[in-house]
Amino acid sequence: MARIFNFAAGPSTLPLPVLEKIQQEIVDYQGAGFSLIEASHRGPHYSEVHAAATAGLRKLLGLPENYHVLWLQGGATLQFSMVPLNLLAGGKPADYTLTGTWAKKAVADAKKIGKVNLVFDGTEAKFMTLPRASEVKASAGAVFLHLTSNETIGGVQWQEWPAVDVPLVCDMSSDFLSRRIPLEKFGLIYAGAQKNLGPAGLAVVIIRDDVLARCSDDLTAYLSYKIHAAGDSLYNTPPVFPIWVSRLVLDYLNGKGGLPWVEKLAEDRSRLLYGMMDKHPDFYRCPVAAHCRSKMNVVWRLPSEDLEKQFIAEAKKAGMDGLKGHRSVGGCRASIYNAMPLEGAQTLAGFMDEFARKHG
Ligand SMILES: Cc1ncc(COP(=O)(O)O)c(C=O)c1O
Repeated sequence: MARIFNFAAGPSTLPLPVLEKIQQEIVDYQGAGFSLIEASHRGPHYSEVHAAATAGLRKLLGLPENYHVLWLQGGATLQFSMVPLNLLAGGKPADYTLTGTWAKKAVADAKKIGKVNLVFDGTEAKFMTLPRASEVKASAGAVFLHLTSNETIGGVQWQEWPAVDVPLVCDMSSDFLSRRIPLEKFGLIYAGAQKNLGPAGLAVVIIRDDVLARCSDDLTAYLSYKIHAAGDSLYNTPPVFPIWVSRLVLDYLNGKGGLPWVEKLAEDRSRLLYGMMDKHPDFYRCPVAAHCRSKMNVVWRLPSEDLEKQFIAEAKKAGMDGLKGHRSVGGCRASIYNAMPLEGAQTLAGFMDEFARKHG
């Protein structure tokens, strides 16, 4: 078996022990005589997994009782609609921060549903920077302030949180569970699973009681947070396979030492890569402002597009894949999510060093 270091932006690398466990159990789930993905979602086998996934997430985040965990489908993209449908009924306003490709999509959907105030617009700066947290103010009457904690394509990440007196609503798709966060500031967090948690096909929503209470009662069933919360995410058939894998990933992360462990690993991995850019400043250029460089999606440029192509091709031969920047921005990008071992970042940093010496 030859596993490469997979730096893809998502779907992305998963912990090997989790994949091996799935492989062991996929045909005959713990002696049941059938696979978990063939089992009823209301039967005992899946019920245990469902409850354990929620318990594992609660433990990892230290989630207080007044937050509900919802396991949904439709990716983070459906949340771009569900958030305003639930919270901006009747045209109520919300504040949004326009920080990159993903925030842009969230804003576009919210504008079709309610009133959106842009309290930050990074368009002119080509989304290469974020405001300081203290510069972000909520507008009068806003129901929430929406952030994208980490822009997967642009490589900017909020390192501190705005102190506003409205609940933060946050798309954490690409840095979910990668660091400790002040939960009390967040009224609602959502994330697609396929970067830091599990396979695609699952989105997690964490919603606080008081925010849930304000949600619309007039929505069709799947769109209603209240219906999913009342049914413990079993109103309809949940995405059982991604929830099963996520449960195993959560067990793995909790077993390793929880958020302090992942947070330190994220810092160590990213420091290695940014350190290499500092070491070769005439060869590697990080376009992102220093105060908001992502610890999950590290982006950089080389002196020419030809050298970038060569870098990516040679890295692939050396066992590192997924380093091409998003097609909309070009360059290189290393996605170093929770399951990327430190060794992956060390190998990449060593390769960067050698490549710069050869071609710089
Ligand atoms: C920050 C962010 N938000 C939202 C999405 C959309 O997620 P999904 O494809 O699960 O709908 C992505 C996908 O990469 C993302 O990176």
